[in-house]
Amino acid sequence: MNLHIHSLRTNPSTLGIAILSFALLPAFAQVGFDKTQAPWMNSSLSPDERAVLVLKEMTLDEKISLLHGTGMKDLSPISPPAVKSNGGAGYVVGVPRLGIPDLQMSDAAYGVRQSGENGRYSTALPDDLAGAASWDLDAAYEYGALIGRELRAQGYNMSLGGGVNLAREPRNGRTFEYMGEDPILAGNMVGQVMRGEQAQHVMGDIKHYALNDQESGRNAVNVNIDKRSMRESDLLAFEIGLRESNAAAVMCSYNRVNGDFACENKYLLTDVLKKDWNFKGFVLSDWQGAHSVAKASVAGLDHEEPGEIFYGNAMKKAVESGKVPMAELDDHVRRILRSMFATGVIDDPPVKSVVDVVGGFDIAQKIEEHSIVLLRNEHSQLPLDASKVASIAVIGAHSDVGMISGGGSAQVDPPGGNAIMPPGKGNTTWQAHIWFPTSPLRAIRAAAPHANVQYNTGTDPAAAAALAKTADVAIVFAYQWESEGMDLDSLSLPEHQDDLIAKVAGANARTIVVLETGSPVTMPWADQVSGILEAWYGGSRGAEAIARVIFGEVNPSAKLPITFPKSEADLPHLNIVKPPAESTTKHGEHEAWKRIATGLPAFQTIYDEGLKVGYKWYDAEHKQVLFPFGYGLSYTTYSYSGLKITPGKNVHVSFKVTNTGDRAGAEIAEVYAALPEGAGEPPKRLVGWSKVKLNAGESQEVAIEVDPEYLSIFNVEGNAWQLIPGNYSFMVGGSSQNLPLKESINLK
Ligand code: BGC
Repeated sequence: MNLHIHSLRTNPSTLGIAILSFALLPAFAQVGFDKTQAPWMNSSLSPDERAVLVLKEMTLDEKISLLHGTGMKDLSPISPPAVKSNGGAGYVVGVPRLGIPDLQMSDAAYGVRQSGENGRYSTALPDDLAGAASWDLDAAYEYGALIGRELRAQGYNMSLGGGVNLAREPRNGRTFEYMGEDPILAGNMVGQVMRGEQAQHVMGDIKHYALNDQESGRNAVNVNIDKRSMRESDLLAFEIGLRESNAAAVMCSYNRVNGDFACENKYLLTDVLKKDWNFKGFVLSDWQGAHSVAKASVAGLDHEEPGEIFYGNAMKKAVESGKVPMAELDDHVRRILRSMFATGVIDDPPVKSVVDVVGGFDIAQKIEEHSIVLLRNEHSQLPLDASKVASIAVIGAHSDVGMISGGGSAQVDPPGGNAIMPPGKGNTTWQAHIWFPTSPLRAIRAAAPHANVQYNTGTDPAAAAALAKTADVAIVFAYQWESEGMDLDSLSLPEHQDDLIAKVAGANARTIVVLETGSPVTMPWADQVSGILEAWYGGSRGAEAIARVIFGEVNPSAKLPITFPKSEADLPHLNIVKPPAESTTKHGEHEAWKRIATGLPAFQTIYDEGLKVGYKWYDAEHKQVLFPFGYGLSYTTYSYSGLKITPGKNVHVSFKVTNTGDRAGAEIAEVYAALPEGAGEPPKRLVGWSKVKLNAGESQEVAIEVDPEYLSIFNVEGNAWQLIPGNYSFMVGGSSQNLPLKESINLK
């Protein structure tokens, strides 16, 4: 490498060769490092052995450099080495003389963030909640693999994403970044996303650990919750996700949990994560989620982001003065190194290349087709027959040009900028509403070339209704935008869209509503419309996927990963607790960062619904819902029969599903269990599922093995999962409220 730089300076005729050599070098090739002399580069050794070997060679400064990021624009000062940053949220200086590469971290919740700033684009997948609606483990793997490939192509070796906070509070502005309200579904899905990412040799990260369930005052709020409830719900999602994937990292969250900030919470980081779960990776703080040196270190925080307020010089001094033992520091460093070896970022560093956008868009579309939930279909109004429908009114939500996406650090840049702005003028600034250039109007016109398809903006409900009156069918697009850094005031659609839908439905009996939302919404008009599709934030090719569902090229199969309540009054908490003024900050400014670092004064939120998260709440409280967890229609119908439960190491559940309609489809068959009375649990919990593909008239025998942990409770005194002996009922069917099969057995 030196040679090339030298020849480049002295002999212009070698320019071409020099550039070629640069281009072929992996982005993280280490200068002046001889692999053959470094025993830790022997890939036949285990990641643990390799980490220990290289750790022995490191100076204190080198160790410290791995323990923190190098700053951020708003958080001055940015340290000089940050010029080598790839522009992602995090950049960590490696140890080139030992062959340890820099860490280049990018947010990547539903695609790689901030590609636009590098003059490139990445695929926007349907949001994470949409991904969970597919209940499809293979699709989740593919979701992660795509993100992993695009990260590598853009020079990143670590992703920040794999959000799995349980939806205790559906008004949380980040609900779209998470995987719904059930720990077993969410945990397994995030596990597959992480497996897919890490198979591309990038480090995965599951976040935000834990209980960061509201954005309002997130840097200050103290979440009060009992241990059993968190272990069986919120933490279980992380436990399963980590077990399934061996994700390299866990990001601790901003909030406090039972008194201590999550990033200095010994119970969360050491007792549960590192001891009980035997997590071998490292814990990094959310951006400015660290608040101390010694307390955080002994509690189990391994790495500070984005700067070095605590884990730079201050950490060095603490080690030198004996406040932080060297062995403790070594453990932090070893965990980071170990993860780098284990995921292959050292043996197979990323090489920058052009992202396969076309391939990515195809996958995004396919996943959206698996994720759109058909919520209502009166008189089998859907699918529309493109050869018969003469006129269609397409209304609202900028559906002439685009579809909305989720904001904050998850935001993916749309090609060409924001679709509702003049070309080139679109931006993805913090909390701007970003519309992706995937046009439902165009997709519908393409799918129904003989129909007269007209558009109305929906801003004037009377004008929209007038257009709807003239058409065979009206399709109203409605949206609810959300983002990191805010919560929803309510679950109502904003901007008078309820009124718009009601007026259009009043004018045309064949009205279909397509929802682009990141959370459940209330639907006062639900009984007046003939069709409802939940399309979520549909990603780069959302429009094409929606059109294929509307016109029946795709038979919908997705099921809700989150309950749609009838009204906010039915939620466990009427309102989100709002922070007092002294516990709030604005986004990002230097002053705000400083106040966050010193620890904003706490205010309290009390999750006294405990174990009753999501459907468990509505079941236990006998509250009727609008659409239950696990619900979703198809263009065909299914029947269930022949349930058999056999006890064993795993409980073996078998039954038959039959496609009783006249078209092929895929049914997500769900298995729930009711625990013995003495267990003190909500009425039932999801314990397994299977996605069954069936041709018209076809039947299939389904077998599901239920992990005993899924049937257990968490015994806090014994600090262990415990199966309560007694009578267990297993219920099987197509939604949490449609479970035609039931059998009970005794388990000891
Ligand atoms: C978010 C994280 C994100 C980080 C880096 C934080 O504000 O909470 O999810 O990974 O920023 O962008």
